[in-house]
Amino acid sequence: MIGFGYWGSKHVRVLGTVPGVDVTVVDPDLDRLADAVSHHPTVRTARRLAAVADDLDAVIIATPPSTHYALAAEALAAGLHVLVEKPLATSVVDAETLVDAAEAAGLTLMVGHTFEYNPAVRRLRDIVRSGVLGRILYIDAARLNLGLYQRDVNVIWDLAPHDISIASYVLDAMPISTAVWAWRNVGRGHPDVAYLRLDFPDTHTFIHVSWLNPDKVRRTTIVGERQMVVYDDLSDKERIRIYDIGVDPDVADAEPSTGNMPVSYRTGDITSPYLPFGEPLMIEDQHFVQCVRGEAVPETPGRRGLDVVRVLEATDRALASGRATWVGDERGVVPGGPDRMGGPGLRRVPPQERQVVPRPRADW
Ligand SMILES: NC(=O)c1ccc[n+]([C@@H]2O[C@H](COP(=O)([O-])OP(=O)(O)OC[C@H]3O[C@@H](n4cnc5c(N)ncnc54)[C@H](O)[C@@H]3O)[C@@H](O)[C@H]2O)c1
Repeated sequence: MIGFGYWGSKHVRVLGTVPGVDVTVVDPDLDRLADAVSHHPTVRTARRLAAVADDLDAVIIATPPSTHYALAAEALAAGLHVLVEKPLATSVVDAETLVDAAEAAGLTLMVGHTFEYNPAVRRLRDIVRSGVLGRILYIDAARLNLGLYQRDVNVIWDLAPHDISIASYVLDAMPISTAVWAWRNVGRGHPDVAYLRLDFPDTHTFIHVSWLNPDKVRRTTIVGERQMVVYDDLSDKERIRIYDIGVDPDVADAEPSTGNMPVSYRTGDITSPYLPFGEPLMIEDQHFVQCVRGEAVPETPGRRGLDVVRVLEATDRALASGRATWVGDERGVVPGGPDRMGGPGLRRVPPQERQVVPRPRADW
């Protein structure tokens, strides 16, 4: 276990329950190592990976994002299987280098997209795939809290990997362009509040992430043409609620002079499906151990981490340019992109004039 901070300590607790796994904790901070031993007396400790690499089979890296690349590269070079916490790296080039290095060495490279191991998110995907929601009109995601401010990445790189991972997992597609609004409200570091728009081939996802909000919120809403779903990760009993409700355009829509409502409402039941119990991190780490033993292949491989890093890097370009930006390559601003959604100060384009964003290339 490289990094025994907030998240690394949870990995160590979970690994302690996996049969046949001995844990070594690597952290340059002696207080963290002492903390590890006091809670888990059987773990070995070291301040540097190089000091213990020869005795290891695999590493899990839960250190600040800016250190992921160098540590993962060092571990792969030492012949170790690697699970890296999200985000896989802080640039596409670094993420690609890790994916290539792992493939060349025949080693497992997995990314810690923990929500893809969450039974509720897996159920969300089943619900979307079943078609009961109808066409997906949009997804709305909010991940808000007071803190924890990060030094090395902005709030998007810190929190949005979860929502990008959840949205792309349930839709089984990657976004092709993105637009971003973000702002630093406190101090002079990275933006602490951000709103993202991700344009998927057939729908949109809107993500609000914040380190500066009085309420803790972890919510994903999927609005379909026929039904809607709310996934509240903080709810004890009803983490998923399916609303059999909707809004239909009314005939009055075509005849504004009639004075009728422009839409008609459908109302129905709200149901909450049973979700099997399972700690996502436990499922993820057990799966990683299986991969290391050659009994499985990663469900969240390095390439999946690379895909998400591509989106994150595009949010940097979108933020710098103030325009909607392609995810897939360096083509820059999306032609007509902001107009499609009526961005600030832009001409609102009537539906019949709107451009369709081309589908991504097969290798995106
Ligand atoms: N998957 C999830 O749900 C989830 C949740 C929280 C955090 N995370 C991720 O976990 C990672 C760590 O986050 P955190 O909140 O635990 O951070 P943290 O600051 O609490 O802990 C980081 C630890 O890494 C150690 N460290 C720093 N540089 C190191 C190095 N070069 N070698 C070894 N150890 C080093 C620090 O001493 C510290 O103990 C981040 O990438 C974060 O995005 C993932």
